[in-house]
Amino acid sequence: MSVIVANWKMSLNLLESSSLANQISDFYSKEKMESSVILCPSFTSLDRVNKVLQDSNIKLGAQDCSEEKMGAHTGEVSAEMIKDIGCEYVILGHSERRINAGETDIDIRRKLKIAHMMGLKIILCVGETEEEKSEFLTLETIERQITTIIPEGMVLPENILIAYEPVWAIGSGATPTPAEVSEIGEFCRGIFATRFSFEKDVKFLYGGSVNASNCASVLKSRFVDGVLVGGASLKFDSFSKILIIAEELCKQS
Ligand code: PGA
Repeated sequence: MSVIVANWKMSLNLLESSSLANQISDFYSKEKMESSVILCPSFTSLDRVNKVLQDSNIKLGAQDCSEEKMGAHTGEVSAEMIKDIGCEYVILGHSERRINAGETDIDIRRKLKIAHMMGLKIILCVGETEEEKSEFLTLETIERQITTIIPEGMVLPENILIAYEPVWAIGSGATPTPAEVSEIGEFCRGIFATRFSFEKDVKFLYGGSVNASNCASVLKSRFVDGVLVGGASLKFDSFSKILIIAEELCKQS
């Protein structure tokens, strides 16, 4: 069963978010889909989208949460608030937060601890920059991110999904080859097996310029359990094509 995450980033207003969620939810039930679909709208649309998804098996996720538990932190949204509004998931460590908000692995570790404590499932983004890739530091970067961010022995496998999102592939149209994605997937599983002593059930997703034309080859790759989709999740046409492909692959396997 594939996991398909839609990261709507800072796109879609309230009306657009709820109508897209409606279309996706109708489609999901009409097609009797089995893939696990998670919609991650902006904070301001979470409540409305949650209402749309009330009777659906589609899950709700937020795109970030505060590293603080509560209190005087103007502009922040806590993990508890996210849980309270109906989210089951939260995306943490997205490279746009690392770049735009200066989040470090240590900041993300604090967020992860609080989100985990609140019972949220975490979609943890990892991946190398273009510079790190050119210096052959991809594996080292990913290992550093995972081992710094996830406290040893703390997170249960079903509570965490690793999303490999090479920074150079996000919104650029460039993607690693399916073989490269598989290699990273296997590498991540290895880290979990040795360092955290579990291997089973840690889901591995790929994200970065995923669209209807390239998602089949990614989803067919070994060690890949799903995709995290940005731009192509903003329109029903492109996203529903991805859902159909994921579903067909599910049925074949
Ligand atoms: P993209 O974004 O699909 O538009 O490249 C993916 C992401 O940043 O999560």
